[in-house]
Amino acid sequence: KRIVALISGSGSNLQAILDHCQQGSIQGQVVAVVSNRDDAFGLKRAEMAGVPGHFIDHRRFDGREAFDLALIDQIDAYQPDLVVLAGFMRILSPGFVRHYSGRLFNIHPSLLPRYKGLNTHQRVMDAGDPEHGCTVHFVTEELDGGPLVIQARTAVLTSDDSASLQARVHTLEHQIYPLAVSWFCADRLQQTDEGVQLDGVLL
Ligand code: GRF
Repeated sequence: KRIVALISGSGSNLQAILDHCQQGSIQGQVVAVVSNRDDAFGLKRAEMAGVPGHFIDHRRFDGREAFDLALIDQIDAYQPDLVVLAGFMRILSPGFVRHYSGRLFNIHPSLLPRYKGLNTHQRVMDAGDPEHGCTVHFVTEELDGGPLVIQARTAVLTSDDSASLQARVHTLEHQIYPLAVSWFCADRLQQTDEGVQLDGVLL
């Protein structure tokens, strides 16, 4: 399967996916990486992996739709089976999301549906929650709202601050994102009215 990744920053989740493709635990390859920031370290990771990287500056466009159309053009040049958002810090328009319906993944650093949006780790600390985690989900028009594929959780420790919590959740992300991608690439996921199925079993 052909995978295109969208990033804005470090790209450690991208790296995890690249590594699993390389090891063969994902039956697919990252065929391109697109970033809206030219200083994103993820572009270096792409280069080191021999994957074409593209920088599309959202500030050059007059509005979200125009930027998203340019993104679609660049992505579709690679004919992807799956598009993964891996720390891509732009909200995508309904038209973009519809275009990739059923083949667009995101990873979010919370146990969705709790804590949509930014600053999740601090908000979990402030609320005194006993646990936290991360979620891979299909992207729909509702921000951080699509059908869940997999979650990983960790206890919030009394010794935690938001940085230590974030670090722990990040390592969980690196485990579940490649796993979800491997399921997709092996055609093991199906979207039904009740939710996502893995090998015919509701997740
Ligand atoms: C992760 O925390 C992810 O959950 C969020 O953006 C961050 C990306 O990190 N969507 P990285 O660039 O993959 O290191």
